[in-house]
Amino acid sequence: MATRLSSTGAPDGAPTTTCRSDEVVVIHRLFRRLYADAPRAVRSVPTGDRVRAGHVSKHLHGITALLHVHHRTEDRYFWDTMTDRAPACGIHASLMREQHRAVSDLLDEIDVLVDRWASDADAVSRERVAQSLDEVERLLLVHLADEERDAFPVLDDVLSDAEWDDIHRAAKRHRPPMPIFVLIGFMLETVPPAERDAWFATQMPAPIRLAYRAVGRRQYERAVGRLFPTPPGRLGSAHALA
Ligand SMILES: [Fe+2]
Repeated sequence: MATRLSSTGAPDGAPTTTCRSDEVVVIHRLFRRLYADAPRAVRSVPTGDRVRAGHVSKHLHGITALLHVHHRTEDRYFWDTMTDRAPACGIHASLMREQHRAVSDLLDEIDVLVDRWASDADAVSRERVAQSLDEVERLLLVHLADEERDAFPVLDDVLSDAEWDDIHRAAKRHRPPMPIFVLIGFMLETVPPAERDAWFATQMPAPIRLAYRAVGRRQYERAVGRLFPTPPGRLGSAHALA
């Protein structure tokens, strides 16, 4: 019997027949981290500093787009199939759709607020953006834990390996809404150190691994430096690779 990958929100140890949803849990870790740190990045921008507000705004548009894409992929591939193949779990599928909709509405509001703030970097707009991001994080923590606990074990049961492969191929067809090396850097930081080398070796093609080591990591570190010019708390810590 397999044991589920530990997440940051769902209980450990729930048995399942396959663990393909663990690949999505890795993405969930990334979102937990990005949205935990986003309000701090916003509040760290001094009033009137349009340059930094511009950098942070660009990052925020990137992470809202990334979360939209992730949820649209789940909406497209998970919930109808889950309801059809495990009708008793349909109520959980409906809840997942509702939670996605609530997050999506808030992300759309944030994109508007971010543009307003970026235009003059004023304190009132900054705090409105930061508070809206706090609210996304609150919704997201509930949603991701619900999804990992109530939906993923069912999806592991009802989806075949070939279907999981199709879903991952479909997800990878989307062009990332932020520079690829910056995204890889954030991913690497949220993979536990003991799993990092294996994740990098199995999930990234060799040319990307080489390029990341050669130039990508520095690009990522520069991007983090623009988000957190003072010594960073969590994001931006060094992630050693073998
Ligand atoms: Fe979700």
